[in-house]
Amino acid sequence: MASTLRPESLLWRVVFLLCAISCITTDSTRKFFKVNPKIVSDVNIWTSGVEGEIAGYRTPFMTYTPNGTILALAGARKYSKGDAGKKILALRRSTDKVDDGYDKGVLGAGTAFVDDDSNTTFVMFIHCQFRCAVPSVLLMNSTNDGVTWGQPRNITPQLQPGIVSHPSPGYGIRKRYEPHKGRWIVCAHGRAPEWGLSLLLSDDGAMTWRTGAFVYNRPCNDTCGESHHTTFQAGECQPVELPDGSLLVMTRNQLRCTCHCKAFLTSHDGGETLPISSLRFDHTLIEPPTDAGLFYSDGVLYFTGPNSSSKRQKMMLKWSYDNGTSWAGELPIWTKAAGYSAVTMLQKDPEDKNFLYLLYEKGFHKSGTSTAAIAFAKIHLHA
Ligand SMILES: *[C@@H]1O[C@H](CO)[C@@H](O)[C@H](O)[C@H]1NC(C)=O
Ligand SMILES: *[C@@H]1O[C@H](CO)[C@@H](O)[C@H](O)[C@H]1NC(C)=O
Ligand SMILES: *[C@@H]1O[C@H](CO)[C@@H](O)[C@H](O)[C@H]1NC(C)=O
Ligand SMILES: *[C@@H]1O[C@H](CO)[C@@H](O)[C@H](O)[C@H]1NC(C)=O
Ligand SMILES: *[C@@H]1O[C@H](CO)[C@@H](O)[C@H](O)[C@H]1NC(C)=O
Ligand SMILES: *[C@@H]1O[C@H](CO)[C@@H](O)[C@H](O)[C@H]1NC(C)=O
Repeated sequence: MASTLRPESLLWRVVFLLCAISCITTDSTRKFFKVNPKIVSDVNIWTSGVEGEIAGYRTPFMTYTPNGTILALAGARKYSKGDAGKKILALRRSTDKVDDGYDKGVLGAGTAFVDDDSNTTFVMFIHCQFRCAVPSVLLMNSTNDGVTWGQPRNITPQLQPGIVSHPSPGYGIRKRYEPHKGRWIVCAHGRAPEWGLSLLLSDDGAMTWRTGAFVYNRPCNDTCGESHHTTFQAGECQPVELPDGSLLVMTRNQLRCTCHCKAFLTSHDGGETLPISSLRFDHTLIEPPTDAGLFYSDGVLYFTGPNSSSKRQKMMLKWSYDNGTSWAGELPIWTKAAGYSAVTMLQKDPEDKNFLYLLYEKGFHKSGTSTAAIAFAKIHLHA
């Protein structure tokens, strides 16, 4: 089907919207362990400077919805691609666009999550990050599968004061196992070197929140080397829960003192703490640095990110059968410029586990900007 449609055509857009419901094949059963991923389709869903007078689409994130649709979101930067400009939240499921209504400095992209019990979809995001003394963390929800959204609530007063908690582009998780089964966890990062990484927790179905684990950045100063194996500066982060109830948190490793690679921390108490003794660097997960995607399902951990330690380029998928201790295989997704990425899987039908969906920043040249477009790729895991 993909080959008969021009990727940029209107028809493809319509197909994309229906795709999450209708393109799921039902030909496979779920008796597997090893995966064999292949790209089914890779479509540009937003192109910077083209759609809706938006200068740049950036920081993509997404979630499945209760009805079995994919909700793709991105920060749409109205006048320039810069971090501090005016942004709106672009949403590929809804007809709504959430405009923050301020001229400058504003709505950063955020974290999405779904409450499968109440069929409620949430987006947590930061407001006025650059221009306000205290940026706000807002939470909004949709009870009709992302078609319409309620007024955002300000949860900033519930969080630890004095630190910036920017919900990272990615998804929040709900603990499926003890300890603290049912708890919501959103990973957030700060901005300047003095801030760190925090886990935002909710034990009452996302009504009230508090700051759980907080890890200060550990500056490496000028002298990098083996002795500084616990230095890092957190950036965008993504948690996953393993079957023993532990949390694995992957973070962008901004300072690159130890390596040009991802850092991981582990929590055994449901996100109350992330002991620095659990900090480890995965030297095989190189990064430029940048945000990246992480997803765990049925014994397989999936990673998406650029295959480069210096440039945002060469988007790839990697998978691990041992919780990220080693990586069993990799698949190139896009060989030219590519940056941020997010990954998800539908949760409605058993055959949904055959597909992984990837949303990523894409450039059209080998080097140069990685933010020309946001692409949506569907990957068959057992092709
Ligand atoms: C949520 O949606 C599913 C179908 O997708 C339905 O079976 C269930 O009853 C719904 N739950 C609520 C609380 O509406
Ligand atoms: C979601 O599914 C429910 C139950 O099947 C249906 O009533 C509702 O219209 C669907 N909502 C959307 C937005 O597709
Ligand atoms: C969902 O949003 C509505 C409207 O802002 C709000 O009244 C409600 O409390 C929210 N629910 C949750 C669980 O956040
Ligand atoms: C880096 O500098 C800070 C403040 O100047 C200091 O507290 C910290 O111990 C130093 N870290 C290392 C690893 O040298
Ligand atoms: C992965 O972690 C789980 C605990 O969540 C453990 O039971 C399992 O043995 C680990 N797998 C490998 C291959 O280490
Ligand atoms: C990643 O880069 C390395 C080194 O250039 C190359 O050998 C490998 O094939 C690449 N893998 C993917 C999936 O792009």
